[in-house]
Amino acid sequence: MSTAAMPEFPAGFRWGVSTSAYQIEGGVDENGRGASIWDTFAHSPGRIADGSTGDVACDHYHRHAEDVALLAGLGVSAYRFSIAWPRVRPAGDGPVNARGLDFYDRLVDDLLAHDVDPVATLFHWDLPQSRQDAGGWLARDTAHRFAEYADATAARLGDRVKLWITLNEPFIHMSLGHGTGEHAPGRTLLFDAFPVAHHQLLAHGLAVAALRTRTTSPIAIANNYSPVRAAGDSDADRTAVAAYEALHNRLFTDPLLGRGYPDGLGFDTAVVRAGDLDVIAAPIDVLGVNYYNPTGVRAPQEGSPLPFELVPLQGYPRTAFDWPVAPDGLHELLGWLHRTYADDLPPIQVTESGCAYDDAPDADGRVHDPQRIAYLDGHLRAVRAAMDEGVDVTGYFVWSLLDNWEWAEGFTKRFGLVHVDFDTQVRTPKSSYAWLRDLIARP
Ligand code: FCB
Repeated sequence: MSTAAMPEFPAGFRWGVSTSAYQIEGGVDENGRGASIWDTFAHSPGRIADGSTGDVACDHYHRHAEDVALLAGLGVSAYRFSIAWPRVRPAGDGPVNARGLDFYDRLVDDLLAHDVDPVATLFHWDLPQSRQDAGGWLARDTAHRFAEYADATAARLGDRVKLWITLNEPFIHMSLGHGTGEHAPGRTLLFDAFPVAHHQLLAHGLAVAALRTRTTSPIAIANNYSPVRAAGDSDADRTAVAAYEALHNRLFTDPLLGRGYPDGLGFDTAVVRAGDLDVIAAPIDVLGVNYYNPTGVRAPQEGSPLPFELVPLQGYPRTAFDWPVAPDGLHELLGWLHRTYADDLPPIQVTESGCAYDDAPDADGRVHDPQRIAYLDGHLRAVRAAMDEGVDVTGYFVWSLLDNWEWAEGFTKRFGLVHVDFDTQVRTPKSSYAWLRDLIARP
């Protein structure tokens, strides 16, 4: 970790932390919530590493006041949470459930009372199960149902939400949820998952239009990005890098910023109808960037169904998820976005950045996580360096406030600034929480 003082960030820079509904809320049967694809998936044997579910998770549904107090103590200016579609419109379509909205209404008011800007994500992967039964994201209808849900939510929460985020990481939901099947709904369609990309993007565009009629707050999408590094220097390796870069980094950004779908991926694009690309390219105010690590790629083996092969990157320290710790990747990524999209690129907020380690309380009950402090220190310096080079970055959100239910990894991966004992629900701020609090509070 650098011993030089962390450079200053401009006044008004947004400091935040992120969470998502299914990973923290629990309360899955309360106040009219419907089932989501993650309830179904987590309850299917063999899907989750430790056999756990999000039925209780961090019990945030009941402990939200304590969690808002933790946010206030940290001194963040913003909190990014997600709204569970199955709480608001339990069947995916049909009646809106006012009691589902009540929960977020109270949360938003409590955040504002503590001077924390509410930043709400409308879809963080928890599709209502009934919508899945009607075809899920393979069905075009789902895009329209999403826009209706966005409209109903904004009708209630309107301008009190200070930044609206339509979708979280549509690439991960397409690839892990529908391409390879490690995430809900567990489909293994590989490149036939393209309709999931298109219908999510269409849902985003339709939701932007609906939100504009309800709010003057800025609107964003949170994409996952990973700079791609070639494992060799053959032409075939370079071709594989270009293919993976188009899939991971451009498929969900080129059309959003008015450039249509990238060429050369070989998708069957029959689901794209006239006018869709204009809907998708509706102007957004902020691009949310979720960054964890770069990806190593080489040419595929003969007969592979994919145009690339992923390979571990050497030479980096690794997190408990075995992800390389590479702040240089964030620096590179921000520069790549700036150069590639030039004048079409809106201001960026880093909407997720963080790391998992096996943090546990010591004999005194304290949780020391120096590796997370080093991680955040490095990634914030990377953001600052990119800003010095002209990239317009206006915020940084740590993933995550709390240790939580990490999808297919269950409770085995701890990303929090705050340790959670999942038996007792006791929250213990880690040393990284104090470090970030002191950084934010610098005069
Ligand atoms: C991102 C997800 C988030 C969390 C982190 C570790 O891909 O958006 O919910 O799981 O990874």
